[in-house]
Amino acid sequence: MFIIPTIRLALPDEAARIALMSREYIEFDLGWSWRRGRVLQAMADPTINVAVAHAGDGGLLGFGIMEYAEQHAHLALLAVAPAYQRQGAGARLMGWLEAPARLAGLEKIRLEVRADNPGALAFYRRLGFAATGRSAGYYGGVMDAVRMEKSLRLR
Ligand SMILES: CC(C)(COP(=O)(O)OP(=O)(O)OC[C@H]1O[C@@H](n2cnc3c(N)ncnc32)[C@H](O)[C@@H]1OP(=O)(O)O)[C@@H](O)C(=O)NCCC(=O)NCCS
Repeated sequence: MFIIPTIRLALPDEAARIALMSREYIEFDLGWSWRRGRVLQAMADPTINVAVAHAGDGGLLGFGIMEYAEQHAHLALLAVAPAYQRQGAGARLMGWLEAPARLAGLEKIRLEVRADNPGALAFYRRLGFAATGRSAGYYGGVMDAVRMEKSLRLR
């Protein structure tokens, strides 16, 4: 069934679920760096948005964390639960997190993605990101990252 998720800022009692999703869907086989406390810190930081996507029944199906600086924004994490992937939720979450960056006139969004994650690389390319380089051992010294960015300037 195709769902149109509701997207909003995360609440503190959702931090534990977000941290578990990070461990399960993003940080697997790496050290678990985004634990509940770090997610709560991000929620309290005025330069960071922690967004969650909910299905109609209220279940948390995805989340994203974006930090906004003077010139650019940086996507820290994004995940959609497997049962809900390829239904547009990831693109909607990215659009929601991207909107404030556009409104604020930021130049670009940057992110890093695991080099062993072709699905995410394809997803970000589809959303207009391009690879700008590779960082060896970026994830705990054991996994490379592909650096990507997207210009927010009108061409
Ligand atoms: C990457 C991720 C967030 C994408 O979320 P999603 O909700 O499945 O993505 P969408 O449905 O919005 O996809 C939009 C488009 O991106 C592309 N895309 C998405 N996933 C893809 C995949 N696995 N392979 C190839 N293209 C993909 C497609 O073009 C897709 O459009 P289509 O389904 O009409 O062909 C999700 O797969 C995920 O959470 N993966 C595990 C965690 C992760 O890798 N996070 C990103 C790194 S932090």
